[in-house]
Amino acid sequence: MARARSVFVCQSCGGTHNRWNGKCEACGAWNTIVEEASAAPVAKGATVSVRGGRAVALEGLNGPTGEAPRLKCGIGEFDRVTGGGFVRGSAILLGGEPGIGKSTLLIQAAAALARAGHRVAYISGEEATAQIRMRAERLGLSDAPVELGAETNIEDILTTLSTGSIPKLVVIDSIQTMWTSAVDSAPGTVTQVRASAQALIRFAKTSGAAVILVGHVTKDGQIAGPRVVEHMVDAVLSFEGEQGHAFRVLRGQKNRFGPTDEIGVFSMTGRGLEDVANPSALFLSSRDSGAPGVAVFAGVEGTRPILVEIQALVAPSSLGTPRRAVVGWDSNRLSMVLAVLEAHAGLKLGGHDVYLNVAGGLRIQEPAADIAVAAALVSSFANAVLPSDSVFFGEVSLSGAVRPVAHSGLRMKEAARLGFTRAIAPAGSADKGDGALQLNGLNGLEALVADVAAR
Ligand code: TYD
Ligand code: MG
Repeated sequence: MARARSVFVCQSCGGTHNRWNGKCEACGAWNTIVEEASAAPVAKGATVSVRGGRAVALEGLNGPTGEAPRLKCGIGEFDRVTGGGFVRGSAILLGGEPGIGKSTLLIQAAAALARAGHRVAYISGEEATAQIRMRAERLGLSDAPVELGAETNIEDILTTLSTGSIPKLVVIDSIQTMWTSAVDSAPGTVTQVRASAQALIRFAKTSGAAVILVGHVTKDGQIAGPRVVEHMVDAVLSFEGEQGHAFRVLRGQKNRFGPTDEIGVFSMTGRGLEDVANPSALFLSSRDSGAPGVAVFAGVEGTRPILVEIQALVAPSSLGTPRRAVVGWDSNRLSMVLAVLEAHAGLKLGGHDVYLNVAGGLRIQEPAADIAVAAALVSSFANAVLPSDSVFFGEVSLSGAVRPVAHSGLRMKEAARLGFTRAIAPAGSADKGDGALQLNGLNGLEALVADVAAR
């Protein structure tokens, strides 16, 4: 028998190469190429025949859709992010850094569904059943009839799941530990992860079970190795948070059956993850009001307004190249706001270190935070305290103009509810808060800077 040819596969993007290289030509990542045995080499000269296959029945759009298509797990914040429950026959990838709480969230969801009378299987390739039991005991879930398995071989798992009635929910923790004997590569390599995910997704589609795959994420936020898996599944959720904080945010990144901009907020307690129904109150619970460099941003995540404190520190630098450090926001966006402040509002920030932090460990993605960031920066630079009864929102354009943002009514309503009296926001922002909030309309960044400097 001919020796199986080996290929060199990039563990970051899945690109294949004929020889080893320090850098992947496809995605530009360094040191990611690993030698793997080539999976089922196609015979030379083989072509796909038009006649060899089996005719499959095609169906119309208008037909039966089967049972109730969604399975609500009863954890409110989780159901909100999935768009109202797990869709039957769908595959979901849940990504997150190690230790963030993925296994905890999923054992809680599995237990809730099992208690509601559904058959649920939880397969762990990382922990022994005794360890999972210990966790369940600590969470007060020992009585839930979840079926546990500690197994990593896909063939064994699928055979087990296919005997008897098919589970409604299957959790695979994690996809990186799974392996199938159909391919030769080691567990954790792109080829193994892809083949295992493919088999599990096929199982979901044919059996109607909802399958959740856990995926570990590397430091730079990529689902380790199998970016390819993200394209194969129906939904990608990421579980985020700062290790030192109790808040955890579940974010929908891709969802074929629901919204992608929705977030769920949890707090990690001694008894597992708890829903946070009112995140603004939590994020503002320990405010630094009275100090310069602090602004409250009225944000919207999905359909939900979230108020959060933005903290900035601008200090003279002793370095040739001043430091720019950001936690919780996009560093490119910070560079842009700094450049606009310099070019259009005359702030000389070139010789200053700039630190920016979003309180509570939340990660903000909205450009609407520009104005709040600018206000915090100017406040720290001018050593002037911002009014503690004001919220800020609005987008800054490169010309120094302030642009209106979506959902201004929602933002103002939430601010009014939490006791704020003023919104510093783009001129003409619509108010749905029954006028409880006074609007200081901004046309340009200069006005904001002049206002803060005058304090
Ligand atoms: P885990 O779910 O094991 O993380 P992952 O599966 O994403 O790797 O969570 C582990 C962390 O959660 C660990 O640092 C301890 C913490 N934790 C609590 O604070 N309270 C709890 O009730 C549980 C079960 C875990
Ligand atoms: Mg885990």
